[in-house]
Amino acid sequence: MTAAAQLQTLAPSQATLQPFNEWMRQVQAEMEVALDQFLPAATSIPGKLHQAMRYAVLDGGKRVRPLLVFAAGELFAAPAGIAQRAAAAVEMIHAYSLVHDDMPCMDDDALRRGKPTLHVQYDEATALLVGDALQAQAFVVLAEAGESIDAARQIVMLRLLAQASGSLGMCGGQAIDLASVGLNLSLAELEQMHKLKTGALLRASVLLGAWAGKTLAQNEIQALEAYGAAIGLAFQVVDDILDATADSATLGKTAGKDAADNKPTYVSILGLPESQALAEKLRNDAHQALAIFGDKASRLRELADLIVQRKA
Ligand code: IPE
Ligand code: IPE
Ligand code: MG
Ligand code: MG
Ligand code: MG
Repeated sequence: MTAAAQLQTLAPSQATLQPFNEWMRQVQAEMEVALDQFLPAATSIPGKLHQAMRYAVLDGGKRVRPLLVFAAGELFAAPAGIAQRAAAAVEMIHAYSLVHDDMPCMDDDALRRGKPTLHVQYDEATALLVGDALQAQAFVVLAEAGESIDAARQIVMLRLLAQASGSLGMCGGQAIDLASVGLNLSLAELEQMHKLKTGALLRASVLLGAWAGKTLAQNEIQALEAYGAAIGLAFQVVDDILDATADSATLGKTAGKDAADNKPTYVSILGLPESQALAEKLRNDAHQALAIFGDKASRLRELADLIVQRKA
């Protein structure tokens, strides 16, 4: 991206002009280029680690977190440069979480994004290091945002991403997940696990995009938090539903894994129809939360629809 393009703002008006699918494909294509640039070259030493990092991140995934960053960024006319860096950073954390999630000591999965999982394609030690290195690289990318953001907001963003990734966010949720195998969790416990392991990074994506645009007012933070909480939980409810109902070829990952591993999920605890009803309720909650933004939040509404109605 040239310096001028970095400072160009995301335009909320485009939401009414460009169909959602076209916008989504455009963001996904731009992210592929950005991620390619923000990852060390495959030829950098050590070559194997850098090739493996690129294997984990590039050429796969729905890029839902970057889409949320961009949609929230459009709401507050964020400069394209910082929105792109925030989107790449959160996607790197997410990709690292998938690499570790698939390792034999966690879910022990062989298929991810339609390809062999990282430890299968490379080896376990490389998978461990890829996760560590992607996490660090995410913060390098967000810290190097340059003149497209003021330092105070950049620190807010760095903190948001760090908190969402750590023991009070994604890692904490993964720890609860591992400790819950074979247990009959209460609904409140299940909700807490899902909110942390998956919801935290999705909620952070929304807030990152918004902070990239401006210093948020309290009522805006509250509305975006409510939206982020609803779509964050909905995402994992739907992930649980798809694990039980879709096939591996469609998902690009092993279907039926939760039941096989005796994991408590929304499907195992609430059953399928109630899980589907809950996802629909959360979609509605997400829409309601955006009321204060009016038509300007249409991309975020469309993303709530996508998260709940997706088939993979
Ligand atoms: C899968 O996330 C793991 C969860 C957090 C539920 P995604 O469904 O977003 O996976 P990709 O990025 O599209 O592969
Ligand atoms: C994973 O949840 C959440 C992460 C933090 C990666 P799952 O274990 O259900 O994700 P999948 O189904 O393997 O993608
Ligand atoms: Mg898991
Ligand atoms: Mg898993
Ligand atoms: Mg799953």
